[in-house]
Amino acid sequence: MTNSHTQHRGLWSGRLAFILAAAGSAVGLGNIWKFPYITGENGGGAFVLVYLLCIAIIGIPIMMSEVLLGRRGRLSPIKTMALLARAEKAPVAWGWIGIMGVVAGILILSYYSVIAGWALGYVARAAGGEFTGADAQTIQSMFGGFVGDAEKLLGWHTLFMVMTMVVVARGVSKGLEKAVMTLMPGLILLLFILLGYAIMKADFAAGFSFLFSPDFSKLNGSVILSAMGHAFFTLSLGMGAIMIYGSYLPDDVSIPKAVVTIAFLDTAVALIAGLVIFPIVFANGLEPAAGPGLVFQTLPLAFGQMSGGAIIGTIFFVMLVFAAWTSGISIIEPAVAWAQERFGFTRPVAALVLGTGTWLVGVGTVLSFNLWADVTLFGKTFFDVLDYLTANIMLPLGGLLMALFVGWVMQRQSSLDELQMSDGIAYRLWYFLLRFVTPVAVIIVFLNAIGIIG
Ligand code: PHE
Repeated sequence: MTNSHTQHRGLWSGRLAFILAAAGSAVGLGNIWKFPYITGENGGGAFVLVYLLCIAIIGIPIMMSEVLLGRRGRLSPIKTMALLARAEKAPVAWGWIGIMGVVAGILILSYYSVIAGWALGYVARAAGGEFTGADAQTIQSMFGGFVGDAEKLLGWHTLFMVMTMVVVARGVSKGLEKAVMTLMPGLILLLFILLGYAIMKADFAAGFSFLFSPDFSKLNGSVILSAMGHAFFTLSLGMGAIMIYGSYLPDDVSIPKAVVTIAFLDTAVALIAGLVIFPIVFANGLEPAAGPGLVFQTLPLAFGQMSGGAIIGTIFFVMLVFAAWTSGISIIEPAVAWAQERFGFTRPVAALVLGTGTWLVGVGTVLSFNLWADVTLFGKTFFDVLDYLTANIMLPLGGLLMALFVGWVMQRQSSLDELQMSDGIAYRLWYFLLRFVTPVAVIIVFLNAIGIIG
C-alpha cells in the first residue's frame, strides 16, 4: 500500500540497512545494562528461560506484525493504525495504539537518557584511569558518589538528549545508517574480549550456572511479567519504534528473515553480556541483585585488573553510549514522525519540542537516584514507576493490541501479501502464534501478575 508520502519520508537503502537500524534499536541499554540486573534481581536461570520463551513465541511474531503494519501504512504509527483500520472497515480508534506508543516513547526516553548519561560519565572515568587497581568496594563507592550527584547526572542526561535529538533532527537514514554499520560489529567484538576475561579470570562456572540453571521456585507472577516486559523492551516492541522503522522498509525486502536475524542478534548480545557480568559478580563477592548499578560496578573491576584496561574500558563505554544512542533515536522517532504529520512541524522543530519535553520528564529520574530517593509510590521511586509502567504494562499492551489487529481485524490475505510468504507451514505457524498463543499468553501473564489467576 505504497502511497505518495513515501518519497518525502525516505527509505532504508536495503535489507542490510534495515536489519542494522532495527538491531541498533533493539540492542541497547536493555541488553547490557538492564538484562543482567533484572536477571540478578529475579534470581537467574528461571527468569532467563521465561525471557527466552517470550522472545520466541511472543516477541518474534509481534515483531513481524509490527514491521508489516509499518510498511503497509507508511505513516507514523498513529496514522498508520488509523489508516489500516479504515481499510479494514474497523474503528479508527485503533490509532490509540499509536498514541499510547508516542506517550510510552517519551516516558522511556526520559529515563533511558539518564542511564545513557551514566555511560557517558563512565567514559570519562575509564579514560581517566580511575578504575586501575581499584577493589570492589572502591568501585561501589565511586558509583554511589556518582549517582548521588544530581548536577552531574543532569549534565550527562542533557548531553545525551542533545546528541539524540540532533540525529533525529537530521533524519534517520543518513547519519545513522552508517554509524550503526560500524558500531554494532565493534560492540560485539568488545563483548567477546570481555567474555574472554570472564572465562579466564573470573568465576565463569558460577556465572554460567546462575544464568542457565533454572530454579523454578524463583518464579511467580511478577517475575514472569518482568521477563515478558523485558522481551518487549529489548526487542523495542509494542510502542511503534519497529513500526516506524518498518515504514521506511523498501517493498522488496522480506520481513520474516530480517526479523529472525534481529531477534537473534539482540538475544545473543544480552546473553553474552550476562556471561561477562555474572562471573565478575561471583568472583568478587558482589551481589547479583545490586540493581541498576550492577554493570557499573562489575565491568570497571574487570577493566581495573586487565592490562590495557583503561583503553578497553574507554572503548567499551563509548560503544555502550553508541548502543544507547541508536536505540534512543528509535524511541522518539514515532513521536517525531507524528508531530511532523499532525502539526506540520519540520523535523528539527519536532525534535526540539519533543526533546525538551522528554528532557524535563527525565529530571524526575535524575532526582530519583539522589534527592528524591525516598519519594516513593508503592515502594517505587520515580524511575522505578516509569520503568514498570512502560516495560511491564504499556509495551505488552501495545503489542497485544497489534497482535489482535493483525490476527483478527486485518484480512489474512493482507498479512500474507505483506510478509511475502507462501501459504505454507511457516506462515501458518506464525499466524497461529499471533492469533491464539501470543494474545492468550500476554493476557494470562497480566492477570497472573495482578493476582487474579495462578
Ligand atoms: N530495545 C532498546 C534496548 O534494549 C530499548 C527500546 C525500547 C528501544 C523501546 C525502542 C523502543 O535498550
